[in-house]
Amino acid sequence: MRQKLAAGNWKMNGTSAMLPELKALAEAYGTAGVEVLICPPAALLHRAAVVVSDSAVAVGGQDCHAAVSGAHTGDNSAEMLKDAGASAVILGHSERRTDHSERDAAVCAKAEAAMAVGLTAIVCLGESLQQREAGETLTVIGAQLQGSVPDGSTADNLVIAYEPIWAIGTGKVPTLEQIGEVHGFLRAQLVARFGDELGTGVRLLYGGSVKPGNAAEIFAVEDVDGALVGGASLKAADFAPIIAAL
Ligand code: G3H
Repeated sequence: MRQKLAAGNWKMNGTSAMLPELKALAEAYGTAGVEVLICPPAALLHRAAVVVSDSAVAVGGQDCHAAVSGAHTGDNSAEMLKDAGASAVILGHSERRTDHSERDAAVCAKAEAAMAVGLTAIVCLGESLQQREAGETLTVIGAQLQGSVPDGSTADNLVIAYEPIWAIGTGKVPTLEQIGEVHGFLRAQLVARFGDELGTGVRLLYGGSVKPGNAAEIFAVEDVDGALVGGASLKAADFAPIIAAL
């Protein structure tokens, strides 16, 4: 039985003024049956970890470097995120792939680094609108999955997030059939590559304009084990009903 996961990605939003929102969430979900993860900006990570300590809410990073340490100005290693209190890290988000030209091989190396220190790697995949309209969605997703996920993955240290780029922050959401098609495809690909234990055990999140109003119907789709939420994770009042819908 895969545990449901509601993951919030604050992206480049949030200063210490946001911590009361996190505190409200942690108090509301101190004994939640579902897993709740908030990924604040790196500058806020440690303070966020302190706020959620003794609750069921965990914190994670939004990226890490593939190297353990060294001359990489501005970057954070996986160990640094863990030391700051993270239990997971988002990797290969489409905004990183676009803004920082991250390719599958780089995402894979980062995932290996994250797993090596005991972090769960949340590997993001997703097609552009142009690719979807060209009928290339499954080809694109399959190649990203193959290239971005390390061989050493397990059902515990890997989460996959399907985020169609055209659905992120736009209010546009794929049909439930489209979500189900991609999630079913991902599940089958994982089973084919890694076998039943990992393939059926890894959690598959949907991300892209998940809101309180559409969460329940998305979560009812087969092989959707939770969500990676951007905008609606910034306020406890918005994120709480999404968690409750799981
Ligand atoms: O990581 C989160 C996704 O990019 C979704 O963002 O919920 O604001 O559309 P959004």
